[in-house]
Amino acid sequence: QLGLKTKRFGWNVYDQESVPSTQQLAHQLAHEGAEEGTIVIAEEQTAGRGRLNRIWHSPKGTGIWMSVILRPSIPPQQAPQLTLLVAVAVAQTIQEVTNIVPDIKWPNDILLNGKKVVGILTELQADPDQVQAVIVGIGINVNQKQFPNDIASLATSLAIETGRTFHRPKIVQTLLQKLEQLYEQYLQHGFLPIKLLWEAYAITIGQQIVARTLNGAVRGTALGITDSGTLKLQTEDGAIHYIYSADIEIKKQ
Ligand code: BTN
Repeated sequence: QLGLKTKRFGWNVYDQESVPSTQQLAHQLAHEGAEEGTIVIAEEQTAGRGRLNRIWHSPKGTGIWMSVILRPSIPPQQAPQLTLLVAVAVAQTIQEVTNIVPDIKWPNDILLNGKKVVGILTELQADPDQVQAVIVGIGINVNQKQFPNDIASLATSLAIETGRTFHRPKIVQTLLQKLEQLYEQYLQHGFLPIKLLWEAYAITIGQQIVARTLNGAVRGTALGITDSGTLKLQTEDGAIHYIYSADIEIKKQ
């Protein structure tokens, strides 16, 4: 099995051969009351989902396709903090297994040499003032040797960047340990220590960016992230905008 040393995560594991989406199954399990730390992981997803209704390519046996159920006692507004927490855990994991320091592009893309190697999708089951469950979907491109033409210029894998192949269970084990460590720290000490770790990997801050949201595009300078995990952006006229969710394009200086 996974050989875990974790306390909270990974004791309740749904290890699947093929599912439409681990995220979908995790939502269902969370509705049915699955406990915090429950993991759904699959060899293959036939309908893997990305943010903004995009498809997430999840071919058999090449990547890590998994969803984790968290149940923190926080209001929904603070949920973006967990996206950043997971991004730090994945970045630390990639750094440990490859010896390459990855970049994080707000909120949740992890890049190696400018190409996306990990996607994180955070979804909520929540009442207006209380989160019931956070379903965190993590897709890590591990052993792919190539990508479909339409995304080849944007996507990469650990294998492509290092010339090695990786034992996926070892990566899952490392990731769950990092995740647990950071989550315990978060529950005890709040978001600030996580925010500092996140900023050390971040490439968005201080840059000229375009943030494409559902309400249109905003262009300006990324000033930083707030204590709730939203992006603070200043437009040319000096106005400050707070962005909850967007696709970020970093403008070349
Ligand atoms: C993104 O758009 O960057 C987020 C991609 C998230 C992909 C993962 S793979 C495991 C989980 N199941 C899904 O269907 N999506 C997430």
